[in-house]
Amino acid sequence: MLSESIIVSYQRVILAMQEPKDPRSLSNLPDQLKHSFDYYDDMLAAERLVKCYEIAPPRVKQYLRAEVDHVVEKIRPNDIVLELGCGFGRVMKPLCPGAKWVIGIDKSIRTLSLAKRFLANQSNCDLVAADAIRLPFKELTFDIVICIQNGISAFHVDPVELFAESIRVTKRGGLVLFSSYSEKFWEFRLEWFKAQSKAGLIGELDTEKTRNGVIFSTDGFTAITYDAQKFLSLAAQFDVDARIVEVDQSSLFCEMVVH
Ligand SMILES: C[S@@+](CC[C@H](N)C(=O)[O-])C[C@H]1O[C@@H](n2cnc3c(N)ncnc32)[C@H](O)[C@@H]1O
Repeated sequence: MLSESIIVSYQRVILAMQEPKDPRSLSNLPDQLKHSFDYYDDMLAAERLVKCYEIAPPRVKQYLRAEVDHVVEKIRPNDIVLELGCGFGRVMKPLCPGAKWVIGIDKSIRTLSLAKRFLANQSNCDLVAADAIRLPFKELTFDIVICIQNGISAFHVDPVELFAESIRVTKRGGLVLFSSYSEKFWEFRLEWFKAQSKAGLIGELDTEKTRNGVIFSTDGFTAITYDAQKFLSLAAQFDVDARIVEVDQSSLFCEMVVH
């Protein structure tokens, strides 16, 4: 079980998730992501999220593995790791063997219930229902905080608040890892989203609007890309050392060491 000193109050987690968003929270959110429909808690929850990864074409599966391998390489045996937007535990599972403890948070209760079953055999992990911009953890708690597979776009939250909250809970000298897509990977990413659309997991792609790292479906799914410049200008607002690392010519990591 996760130590009581890490979770401030489970009750507060639930309450935080029910609070309406403060208008300030949306001030830095890119326009393409400003809509109220929570796609990941509805169309892409639980088994439907699993299906998205199952139907990924081989080059996309390579990208997904490369991202996880990149994180695994950074973890030391005594590390307490936090994953933001952990979904059904796809990333947490391979992180567990190399870490002391892995905690995953996600906003979707349905997806977390599936994660509980998916991670049933892992003895060093916990799942918490929480919003990534209102984490129920004390400051300076984690050695590594990760938000990969373009979570920064998927969450539809203010990226400045997301960075601030991730950095707040990371120990001094600890690592915060965000990832989005490399622009070299656009055609493969597009092929994957076309496959998701064909499988009925997301709506029909809006071919007028879908281009240059931005994906729109006609029923409200939107995803954008954070390039090196966007990541670095976010990181510049905090007391961190930041660098950009491209992995597998598919994923773009923003790696921050917290001061
Ligand atoms: C693209 S999926 C990625 C899941 C997982 N990281 C993986 O790579 O397999 C994004 C996840 O973020 C969750 N999510 C969306 N908004 C969130 C928020 N504000 N806070 C926490 N999780 C959120 C969704 O429920 C979904 O499970």
